[in-house]
This record gives sequence, C-alpha cells and structure tokens, in this order.
Amino acid sequence: MFILKRVRSRAFTVVFCVITITSFVFTYTYDPSSYLFKFAFRLSDNLLSKGPCACTECITHADEDPWFMERFNQSMPPLMSEKNSMLSEDTYRWWQWLQSEKQPANYSEVVHRLFQLVPGEERYMDSGPSRCRTCAVVGNSGNLKGSKYGPLIDSSDFVIRMNQAPTLGYERDVGSRTTHHVLYPESAKNLPNDTSLLLIPYKTLDLQWIMSALTTGTIKHTYVPVMSKIKANKDKVLIYSPTFFKYVYETWLEGHGRYPSTGFLTLMFAIHICDEVNVYGFGADQVGNWHHYWENNLLGGAFRHTGVHDGDYEYNITILLANKNKIKMFKGR
Ligand SMILES: *[C@@H]1O[C@H](CO)[C@@H](O)[C@H](O)[C@H]1NC(C)=O
Ligand SMILES: *[C@@H]1O[C@H](CO)[C@@H](O)[C@H](O)[C@H]1NC(C)=O
Ligand SMILES: *[C@@H]1O[C@H](CO)[C@@H](O)[C@H](O)[C@H]1NC(C)=O
Ligand SMILES: *[C@@H]1O[C@H](CO)[C@@H](O)[C@H](O)[C@H]1NC(C)=O
Repeated sequence: MFILKRVRSRAFTVVFCVITITSFVFTYTYDPSSYLFKFAFRLSDNLLSKGPCACTECITHADEDPWFMERFNQSMPPLMSEKNSMLSEDTYRWWQWLQSEKQPANYSEVVHRLFQLVPGEERYMDSGPSRCRTCAVVGNSGNLKGSKYGPLIDSSDFVIRMNQAPTLGYERDVGSRTTHHVLYPESAKNLPNDTSLLLIPYKTLDLQWIMSALTTGTIKHTYVPVMSKIKANKDKVLIYSPTFFKYVYETWLEGHGRYPSTGFLTLMFAIHICDEVNVYGFGADQVGNWHHYWENNLLGGAFRHTGVHDGDYEYNITILLANKNKIKMFKGR
C-alpha cells in the first residue's frame, strides 16, 4: 500500500514534468499564432506589466487610439493630496485668474490647515490588471426624465453626481446611490454621511469656505451669498486638483471657453480614476431643450451655453470619447 502510493506519486511527478516541458517547448517553438503561445504571452503580459484592467472593456486598451493617447495622462492625479498640493507658479497664476480673486489668502497656509481637517492622502491612483472600477457619471439633463436608468446607475461601483442634483423622488430615473457629489461653494448642498463631497476650488477662498462650512460657518459670501454651514462627512471630503483642472482645460479643451464646466471636469475625473465610465444625463433632451431633470423650465442642464464654458466644444469631445469607446453615453429620452 505504502509502496504503491510512492510509485503512484513518482509516476505523477514524471507525467507532470513531461507535460510542463512539452508545453514549454510547444509554446516557444511552435507557431506563434497558436493558442498556447498567445495565452502564455497574454498571461506574462498581464502578470509582468501594468496591464489595462480587470473589466471586460478598459478605458486604456492595448491597441491605443492616437488622439486619445496624445491627451490621456493616467499619472496625473485628479485630486489634491498633501503631497501634490503645492502648485507651480504658472498653475497658481492660471487658477487664481479663473475668478480673479482680489486679495487671496496665503495658499500654502490655507492648504496646510485644510489637510488638518480633511484627508490628505493620495486616492484612486491604483489602476492595474486586477482593478475593475465601474463609474456612473450622472449629469443633470432633462433627458433623464422617464429614462428608468435608476437601477443601471445604482449598479456602478461609483455613482458621481454634481451641483444641485436631487435623487429623492427621482430614483426610478436617476438612481438613489451617490458615492461622490461634485460641487463648489456657490452650488453646494447638504450630503448624506456616506457620500464623498468633491469640491472644485476656483479660488483660495473656496478652500477656506469648505473648512468654514464644515466647522465654524463664518464664511457666508463669496461673489454671491453661499451656504455658511454644510452637512457632509469631513472624513470623506475630496478636493479637485488645480493642476489637473489646468490639464483638462489645456490638453482636453485646448483652451476653449474660459474654463471647463462642472460636467466636463467630472467626466475627466471619472475617466482618470475608473476603468469603465457610463455617462447619463448629458446634453439636451429629445426635443433639444436644456433643462434640469427636476425642473420644467428651460434653465441650466449640462453643457448649456453659459458665458464661461464652451458647451459645444465640450460636447464634441464627449461624443468623440463615446465614438472611440472610451465612455458609454446613455442618451435618455
Ligand atoms: C503626466 O503627468 C505626470 C504627473 O503630473 C507628469 O510628470 C508627466 O510629465 C505627464 N506626462 C506627459 C506626457 O505630459
Ligand atoms: C505664505 O506662507 C508661507 C509659510 O507660512 C511663507 O513661507 C510664504 O512666504 C508665504 N507666502 C506669501 C506670498 O506671503
Ligand atoms: C458618519 O461616518 C463616520 C465615518 O466616516 C462616522 O464616524 C460617523 O459617526 C457618521 N456620522 C453619522 C451622523 O452617521
Ligand atoms: C463639433 O464637431 C463638428 C463635427 O465634427 C464640427 O463641425 C463642429 O465645428 C465642432 N464644434 C466645435 C465647437 O468644435
């Protein structure tokens, strides 16, 4: 019995070695188009190099589109961290020009205080072959009305909404989950405790405002009256990086408009931190009207013409990304 087992295990070892050597020889000497060769190549490619991602479709493919690759920089952090918070002189000047703040506070002092209140570590820069992060970017267009996209939106890992976007009463069309809510002081609203507030700062005062709004409530006015206190989980607050902001403007919009809209900045955030991006509620509705899904009048909506954004150009880039299968657009009705 004991001997028989040993013979069996020795026989097994021999068979195993033969299979391994044969497949090795087969793989490296046989026709390179063979299945095994390709399989081994793909396996080693995935294990050894930073392959795209674990989703079936990734934003970055092997057969890259030159237009996309010329623009896309995955090592550019979309969020401000303690480490990357210092701006080049060039970036600071550009960013400070956006809303022409008259007497800005000392930026480095403000940022230093900010990261004593909100988390300052780098986030989401973990793309790689084992990650599949699906994201829903939900714009505010009236084309969401009657779309019944709610369950589809809620099934994403990240659900990113912006500005005033409500969900209460609109769940069937827009979903109920919000992992990230993108806003700035003048568009702020209270958020649930499990939602990350993602602040887009357009000036130093906006960084001071988020600190104030989460604590003392002393800042009540920027260029218009703003919410002095905001309900949001301070441990989940994220800050959009001014360096990334400038990159979006220069590289993706090639300087069109005065600066990118919240919708476009949010889309770019998603493209850089997600492996699959589904876009809802962008553009006009079926009859060409621009309005919010929670309103009946014709005000607002993503990509609407405003003084400071080039909505047409932004929409063109968005359509181009969809045509190149980098994002998927859900057009609603
Ligand atoms: C991409 O971003 C990183 C980080 O900001 C930067 O160092 C690098 O130069 C950028 N690459 C290109 C090609 O612009
Ligand atoms: C801002 O504060 C830092 C540190 O407190 C200081 O080194 C720097 O000179 C100040 N910058 C300006 C422009 O006052
Ligand atoms: C909000 O979430 C934090 C954890 O991030 C927790 O410590 C806190 O108790 C929560 N607050 C409420 C009101 O649920
Ligand atoms: C958008 O794209 C269309 C077709 O490619 C082009 O004719 C139009 O000029 C573009 N609009 C802008 C604002 O770039």
